[in-house]
Amino acid sequence: MATIVGGIATSHTPTIGFALDAKKQNDPVWAPIFKGYEPVVNWLKDKAPDVIFYIFNDHMTSFFMDHYSHFALGVGENFPVADEGGGARNLPPLKGHPALAEHIAKCLVADEFDLSFFQEKGLDHGCYSPLSLLLPHEKEWPVKVIPFQVGVLMAPSPSAKRCYKLGKALRRAIQSYPGNLKVVVAGTGGLSHQVHGERCGFNNTPWDMEFMDRLGTDPEGLTDITIAELAKLGGMEGAEVVMWLMMRGALSEKVEKIHQTYYLPSMTPIASLIFEERSNEKPAESDAAYMERVDHQLKGIEKLEGTYPFTLGRSVKAFRLNDFLHRLIEPKHREYFLNNQEACFNDFALTDEEKDMVRRRDWRAMIHYGVIFFMLEKLGAVVGTTNLHIYSAMKGMSLEDFQKTRNAQVLYSVAGKDESKKTWDKPGK
Ligand code: FE2
Repeated sequence: MATIVGGIATSHTPTIGFALDAKKQNDPVWAPIFKGYEPVVNWLKDKAPDVIFYIFNDHMTSFFMDHYSHFALGVGENFPVADEGGGARNLPPLKGHPALAEHIAKCLVADEFDLSFFQEKGLDHGCYSPLSLLLPHEKEWPVKVIPFQVGVLMAPSPSAKRCYKLGKALRRAIQSYPGNLKVVVAGTGGLSHQVHGERCGFNNTPWDMEFMDRLGTDPEGLTDITIAELAKLGGMEGAEVVMWLMMRGALSEKVEKIHQTYYLPSMTPIASLIFEERSNEKPAESDAAYMERVDHQLKGIEKLEGTYPFTLGRSVKAFRLNDFLHRLIEPKHREYFLNNQEACFNDFALTDEEKDMVRRRDWRAMIHYGVIFFMLEKLGAVVGTTNLHIYSAMKGMSLEDFQKTRNAQVLYSVAGKDESKKTWDKPGK
């Protein structure tokens, strides 16, 4: 079973990454940052976790207000560095752990936390700033990272209590994973700071000290504090400390803080701490009952023949091909595809198997492979075929025979105003 070896908390201000990239190790103003992180660097090296479950918030870089959610779980294989305006930092992409992420997703959803899921998204300084100082990364990272984006920037945002409860559910999820993995949970953000408006520059060191103290000894007592109170005490953006509480929720009730540091050079304190577990309380619900609940909704689905529930596993496995087909909603991409199919395949690095299925318009093979149906109907619209042609091909029937199974013999597609559909959308066709 997977084990939680401890938790770390850290600020995620861009200052940390800047200090590293600018090689400020020996500059007296910046040196305390490096010194402060040394115990965390050594602890991570010593514990050698297989996975870090990394709780952070993006800063309207990859998670914008056009689609913003409370809890977004990184389920994919790769997470490159995001460009925040001046070119992406020169760091290798983080590697995810799709199997553990899918297990956590199933567990959290069973515990009524509604999540969103992402993959192949660029991650900004909220993720990469502290990690680049905490871990060696010349060619690749020594540990897999499951990023967990918390939507703290747009109200209504999740409360301290909700985050803490999610942490508790996360603990159970990680500990019930059947693989033999060592996992560290990292909560990031904070501490007191405000970066917008006339109140920008606000800090409150006594509150930061109290928060770090109570996080170890009285985390539940912190969960009744509202976002407004957190903003009053620690600045509006400092209210992101709810993510430290999520990390704390994932640890045992009794913990020992083996490291704490705090340095305030500019707008945001650069703080870090390490908790180690000091108790191993057993949950009231048995492991068997818990897993029964986790698997409850999809139990027996495998008995439905010709049915392929679109799981996270399928979505990760077939992301490249689904992404290729999804981009057919962009006029430029579909034009390129129609005019130079092979070059378009190569640009997306499709495998021979993937190219072959698309070339042959093998709808059934694509479904078996992991393409979601709604990409098929987009491809159908682009190449001028109808949904009914796709349904009949998946069924292994002629169009006419399949149409006979319907109450009316109609043809339709999602082609919108595309002129080509007129070739099939005519009376008598
Ligand atoms: Fe942040």
